[in-house]
Amino acid sequence: MNILKVNGLKKKFGKKEVLKGVTLEINEGDILAFIGPNGAGKTTTIKCILGLQKMDEGEVLINGFDIKHDFVKAIERVGAIVEAPDVYLYLTGYENLKMQASYYKNIKEEDITRVIELVGLEKRIHDKVSKYSLGMRQRLGIAAALINNPRLLILDEPTNGLDPEGIKNLRELLHKLANTGIGVLISSHNLSELESFCNKVCIISKGEVISLKTINEIKEIDGAKYIIKVNKTKGIGKLLNTTDKIVDDNHIAVIKDEEEVASFIKELVLKNIKIYEVKKEEYTLEEAFINVAGGKKID
Ligand SMILES: Nc1ncnc2c1ncn2[C@@H]1O[C@H](COP(=O)(O)OP(=O)(O)OP(=O)(O)O)[C@@H](O)[C@H]1O
Ligand SMILES: [Mg+2]
Repeated sequence: MNILKVNGLKKKFGKKEVLKGVTLEINEGDILAFIGPNGAGKTTTIKCILGLQKMDEGEVLINGFDIKHDFVKAIERVGAIVEAPDVYLYLTGYENLKMQASYYKNIKEEDITRVIELVGLEKRIHDKVSKYSLGMRQRLGIAAALINNPRLLILDEPTNGLDPEGIKNLRELLHKLANTGIGVLISSHNLSELESFCNKVCIISKGEVISLKTINEIKEIDGAKYIIKVNKTKGIGKLLNTTDKIVDDNHIAVIKDEEEVASFIKELVLKNIKIYEVKKEEYTLEEAFINVAGGKKID
């Protein structure tokens, strides 16, 4: 079932067109990585989805409800963190969650306990948030976003400030949530960080979606990556495409399909280069992206 549908979203700030018709969708159980460089329009898209920013044109449907006509129903089952979690430093984690719970009807004590356990903050929940580390504040923010049992969870750069353990926990948490049918939109400019999180990737650049694909589709584009061990790499440069590269004196990495790699090897042999090994490797999302975006790198 469809959880979020964004259609032709446009937004201008003054004369600057920041969103130029953003279209994307999230179904039950999807974890969509929303990737793009600084200033691409990720946060603005998210704010428009949440009604925190007025869109100029376009349509946003959440759980089938149009935010323009049925805002309350649309937003009722949405949990979100935008830019940084909204927490009060002078309250304890628990008090913050109580406060968040009071914004909704029918939140029970068990719901609070459930979200504390989900993010693993049991031990520190009664400490003041001012004493929390950045990662602990992120976890508290996520707990707060989950308190109303959302169907759609939106996290704007939630990995900021998380240590590798925190990122691993977040990944496991999101997978758990996605398995219960929640749809997740998670933004970042760090591709490698989200690679293991998501099943779909939406790449946005200068206010336009330049690619919206499943992870598998992205990885399959134009073949795989091959590492080729040779006796020398000198003089090979001119045989390479923009996505290929010389790794060191004895290795090159190329992105090709099977046929292409076969004829490439033949070319090398004809140039008297000795091939010692050809190894097929998994694409990283970042390499796949560079491929999709035609060599344009996001950092
Ligand atoms: N309130 C505002 N007034 C004017 N311009 C804005 C406003 N909010 C955002 N912008 C501009 O809109 C563009 C998109 O910003 P946005 O915050 O959506 O980018 P982002 O993809 O979230 O970037 P980041 O990765 O840095 O968070 C930027 O050029 C930004 O300067
Ligand atoms: Mg942003």
